Amino acid sequence: MRVIIADSPEAVARMGAEQCIRLLQDKPAAVLGLATGSTPIALYAHLIQRRQQGEVSFRQVRTFNLDEYIGIAPQHPQSYRSFMQKQLFDHIDILPENTHIPSGMGDPMAESRAYEDKIHSAGGIDLQILGLGRNGHIGFNEPTSSLSSRTRAKTLTQETIRDNSRFFSADEEQPHLAITMGIGTILDARKVMLLAAGAAKADAVKAMVEGPISAMHPASALQMHPSALVIVDTEAASKLELIDYYRWVQSETLRVQGAYL
Ligand code: F6R
Repeated sequence: MRVIIADSPEAVARMGAEQCIRLLQDKPAAVLGLATGSTPIALYAHLIQRRQQGEVSFRQVRTFNLDEYIGIAPQHPQSYRSFMQKQLFDHIDILPENTHIPSGMGDPMAESRAYEDKIHSAGGIDLQILGLGRNGHIGFNEPTSSLSSRTRAKTLTQETIRDNSRFFSADEEQPHLAITMGIGTILDARKVMLLAAGAAKADAVKAMVEGPISAMHPASALQMHPSALVIVDTEAASKLELIDYYRWVQSETLRVQGAYL
């Protein structure tokens, strides 16, 4: 697992976007795994800007989102489909039929199987973007999720429901269930890149990077991935025991390569 410590949330987003752009420049028909939540919004803003500047194209790109609420139609303002349209898809040259988000409306078991098949038929995910829950979840794989789980329905923890309540108004019913790629599905991606910013994520970052691999902290499963990149700001990195080592690796990389990444 490679840990990059950036000076600010903005730098986290910029570096994350740079990774996506490099991939798309090398492989214009790449398959991207995408996340929702507040963390990747600034990364998506960078991608939009770089698209507008003509530096990158999404014309051949296919995307698979991590998750979607169950019982919420795609047109619902709080659906992850609406989120992705607003934060990214409506502003880039991606073909609508190449964007995939699990459907929260059909039979969850059939939908989950079909989603796995679609990822497989696309040749697998080249780069999976991830955020990190305060309880260590990735996608909606809450603590005690099987580390080899595949796409399926999950019940959200009350903590996650509370954390996400900021997106719902008081009179809106907030879903308690979601379809999510499993941890096994995420680990199958050729590269994974997790972004986290802010002091509220510091405990989760420490457990993910330096804790034991445990279903109690689903993101710790990324320690088993051969190409996992973690980009965090100084606040999210503040509890890492080996922080000086990660910074040292960073400066050595800069010295040898002329860039952090
Ligand atoms: C979103 C997702 C979640 C979020 C996580 C962090 O598709 O799968 O795992 O990445 O809850 O959310 P934020 O970024 O809002 O802190």
